Amino acid sequence: MEIKITKTTTPKTMPPEDKLGFGKVFTDHMFVMDYEEGRGWHDARIVPFGYVSLHPASTVLHYGAEIFEGLKAYRRADGGVQMFRPMENIRRMNNSAERMSLPLLDERDALEILTTFVRLEERFVPKSFGTSLYLRPFMFGNDESLGVHAVKRATFMLIASPSGSYYAEGINPVKIMIENEDVRTVRGGTGYAKCGGNYAASTRAGERAAKKGYSQVLWLDGVERKYIEEVGAMNVMFKIDGEIVTPMLTGSILPGITRKSCIEVLTKMGYQVSERLLSVDELVEALESGKLEEAWGCGTAAVVSPIGKLAYGDKEYVVSGGKIGEVTQKLYDTLTGIQWGKLEDTFGWVYKI
Ligand code: PLP
Ligand code: COI
Repeated sequence: MEIKITKTTTPKTMPPEDKLGFGKVFTDHMFVMDYEEGRGWHDARIVPFGYVSLHPASTVLHYGAEIFEGLKAYRRADGGVQMFRPMENIRRMNNSAERMSLPLLDERDALEILTTFVRLEERFVPKSFGTSLYLRPFMFGNDESLGVHAVKRATFMLIASPSGSYYAEGINPVKIMIENEDVRTVRGGTGYAKCGGNYAASTRAGERAAKKGYSQVLWLDGVERKYIEEVGAMNVMFKIDGEIVTPMLTGSILPGITRKSCIEVLTKMGYQVSERLLSVDELVEALESGKLEEAWGCGTAAVVSPIGKLAYGDKEYVVSGGKIGEVTQKLYDTLTGIQWGKLEDTFGWVYKI
């Protein structure tokens, strides 16, 4: 595909690596491409980073036709740059697009967009272990009319943010609260899609949890409020009496790439991993009997995030003595080792740029 590049005349200075937060500063450029029914995707371009101008009736502003992805470009120990399973993000973006009646991307074009963009912004890929260039592809419906229907016009963009280590102060297990009021999504809804509305709808519970001193909520399913689904904006895994359990993908759970990678790593290490329904009653029983050995969230941003405390109603339980568990630590070391190019990638997951 042809990508027209217009370089900025005012290059930014890269902030010091120990001052990078998450998603706060952006690189010099952004990628933009337009879609129109009958014409397809066109005008692929990289332009100086800047504001987006939208018609006030633009579909995204009224009906929320928006999807996004999140992946990282990592600086390898040998100085090179690589992405982690980028085709998985591209395929998930197309699944999200299909759910939200947005146009699909050509997979190879999408990979070329990511690669071309990261090459251009290479100086923004930080060097310390744990830091990365966070890549945020997104797409929105952009019809300039108020009719409710599948869009005829759309825009795809890619922005990137040099981001600090999620664990600047070391991995600290987090306190999580089981949420039994709000639900994140429902089966038949949009849970498996990475669409903006899912996140807008989940922040209220997150804010309420924060007020009570918890980092995030553990979501229950939207139909029976009985089965565990995810933790905050991460997938969740438990070690119960030797078995590693993660909620099966029922349609309301986002199929995480870290989740999939954890399952593959753990299986290779010889653990038994079950993707199945896990009820809150079974979890509480495991907490009370001491059979819950470890619990952790997993996602691109944090890789793995150990759960040290779990609250249900007015009861609070300590998990793994409030410390990171053995399996959680092994997963963290293996995944980050592969992602930052310190360990040999025996899975064929890394994509060197
Ligand atoms: N669940 C939700 C709701 C998410 O937003 C994310 C983050 O992308 C994940 C799970 C983890 O997915 P991944 O491992 O692909 O980042
Ligand atoms: C993750 O990467 O785990 C996320 O949940 C990304 C978030 C900023 C939407």
